[in-house]
Amino acid sequence: MPARPTRDWMRGLPKAELHVHLEGTLEPEMMLALARRNGLALPWPDAATIRAAYAFGNLQEFLDLYYRGMGVLLTHADYVDLACTAMERAAADGVVHAEFFYDPQGHTSRGVPFDVVTGGLLAGLAEGERRFGVSWRLIPNLLRHLPEDDALTTLRVAEPWLLDGRLHGVGLDSSERDFPPERFARAYAWAAERGLFRTAHAGEEGPAAYVATALDVLGVHRIDHGNRALEDPALVSRLAALGIGLTVCPLSNLRLRGVACLTEHPLRQMLDAGLKVTLNGDDPAYFGGTCLDNFVAIADALELSVADLLTLARNSLEVSLLDPAAKARHLTALAAYAGAAALVEGADT
Ligand code: HPA
Ligand code: ZN
Repeated sequence: MPARPTRDWMRGLPKAELHVHLEGTLEPEMMLALARRNGLALPWPDAATIRAAYAFGNLQEFLDLYYRGMGVLLTHADYVDLACTAMERAAADGVVHAEFFYDPQGHTSRGVPFDVVTGGLLAGLAEGERRFGVSWRLIPNLLRHLPEDDALTTLRVAEPWLLDGRLHGVGLDSSERDFPPERFARAYAWAAERGLFRTAHAGEEGPAAYVATALDVLGVHRIDHGNRALEDPALVSRLAALGIGLTVCPLSNLRLRGVACLTEHPLRQMLDAGLKVTLNGDDPAYFGGTCLDNFVAIADALELSVADLLTLARNSLEVSLLDPAAKARHLTALAAYAGAAALVEGADT
C-alpha cells in the first residue's frame, strides 16, 4: 500500500486556482487593519470575534457578511495590499497560476470608483507576480441580485479594460436561488459579441437547470461550482463531452451547507463521470481554507489517490486561461512530478 499523499506533496503539485474571490481573501486581521487605517468602525472588536461570526446557514448568510466585510476597502493602497497578499498565499500553496474574481458593483455601489478598485487590484497582482512568481488573470463578476441594467452599466465602464486585456472575461455570482442565469442574457450577449471569456456561478445552491441555462443561454466556457449538475445525468454527459471546466470548492460547500460533511461531497462522482473538475478556495478567509487546504481536506475525506490528485491538477491547467506555451510548460512540469510519484509508488508496492 503506498502512503497517503501528504500536504507537502499536494503543495508541490503544479496547479492553477481558478475560483477565488479577492474580497473573499480578506482575512479578519487585514479587515481590522484597513478599518483602522480608514477610520471606519466595525461591529467586532478583534479577529477571533470576527471568525466566530463566520457561521453560515446558507449562501445568503455568508453574502451578508461578505459585503459588509469588503466595506473596509476604500483606497488604491487597500486594493493593492489585498491583491498582493492573495498572490503571496497562492504561492505558498504551490499555485503556479491564479484566476481571481472580484465584484465591481460591491465597491462602486459604495462610491468607490471602478478605476480605483480595478487599478489597485491590478497593481497588487502585478507586484505579487514580480515578488512571488505566480501568473494571474482577473475576472469581474456581475452581481446577480442586482438588475441586469446595472450589470450592463458596469460592463460599459469595464469595456476598455476588457478589450485591451487588462481584465480577462466576465463572471456572475452572488445570491443564486431565484436569480436564474437567463436574467443576464443581454449582458452575456454583450460579452460574446466582444469575444470575451465567460463563466458563471451555477448549481451551487440553484438547480441543475441553472447550469444548463448558463451553458445554453449565457454560452459560458466554464461553470463555477456546478455541483447540482449531477442531478441531471444528460447534462453531466454534455458537460463531460464538451470538456467544460467545473471549479469546485469543497470547504465552501461544507461551510455553506451544500454538503453535511466532506465525506458526502460529490467530487468522487464528478471525477467518475469524466467532468473536468478543479479544486479551489472560493472565499478562503470566510470558509476556513485556501486552495491547498481544499486539496488536503477533500483528499482525506474521500481518500483520493495520487492519480485523482494529478487529474485535478491537470484539469486546472487545461481549463485555465493560460496561453498555450505557458500551459504546455506547466503540464510538462506536472508530468515530471507524476513520474516522480510513480517511482515512489513503485518502490512502495
Ligand atoms: N457564491 C456566490 N457568490 C459569491 C460567492 C459564492 O461562493 N463568493 C463570493 N460571492
Ligand atoms: Zn465563488
